[in-house]
Amino acid sequence: MKVEIVTRRRGKEAVVEYDYQPRDEDEKPMILDVLLQAQVEEIPDLAFRYGCRARNCGVCTVDVNGRPRVACRARINEGDRVSPMATLPPLADLVVRRDGVARQMRGRLASAAQGNDLNVEAPEDYHALTACIECYACLHECPMHARNFHGKAPADISTGDQADPAEGYRWGNPFSLLKLQRIRIDPLTSDTGKEAALDHSIELGLDACVGCKGCKCGVGINLMGKVVQPMLEAAGDRLGNTN
Ligand code: SF4
Ligand code: SF4
Ligand code: FES
Repeated sequence: MKVEIVTRRRGKEAVVEYDYQPRDEDEKPMILDVLLQAQVEEIPDLAFRYGCRARNCGVCTVDVNGRPRVACRARINEGDRVSPMATLPPLADLVVRRDGVARQMRGRLASAAQGNDLNVEAPEDYHALTACIECYACLHECPMHARNFHGKAPADISTGDQADPAEGYRWGNPFSLLKLQRIRIDPLTSDTGKEAALDHSIELGLDACVGCKGCKCGVGINLMGKVVQPMLEAAGDRLGNTN
């Protein structure tokens, strides 16, 4: 099975064609199987990330034919092209900088639990949102996240003009909204904490969600129904003054 792997060295992209040798004739390999074999057989310094190999850690996400896929759990087909996630700045080969998203939430996630009843059961939606594996597939085609790169691809932006991931991105994304919505519906969060989480979602650019065709989660969480819509409803007419 021939596939294309996009490599990136010292800022220059190249496409390497790799001929995957199946372990048996019925094998339908995952993307990660191909990358691991390519590294052993032909490209020893091929850079990519993986951890759990069980769709738990979320670090293995790459693009296949331009759409994000969790590499350890998504199958690859003849002729597919594997490239780094287009939504985050590339580092080397298939590795991108992930820190800008995590740093965006720095100092914001401490749940303010003062005085709340620890015996209150969390609502079902809260548990649904804990299924997030932080794979960042949902950044794909998110207009809010795209504001960080002035609508361009992160790979095409010169270093000086780029939002600095080390500072945390200015504008949000579906994952950050999910984290904030989880805080809002956590029974341990105080009313002040819930308000602060909503305020933060508005600061991150919740207005971009108005009229957006919507985000899709890599593991099937209903982001529009369980995250975006409830936040838009809670924000009401507060949107539109964030630029
Ligand atoms: S609905 Fe909001 S979070 Fe989802 S893709 Fe659109 S702008 Fe991004
Ligand atoms: S919300 Fe879904 S797509 Fe986004 S980071 Fe979490 S698991 Fe991945
Ligand atoms: S290696 Fe952990 S989710 Fe793929």
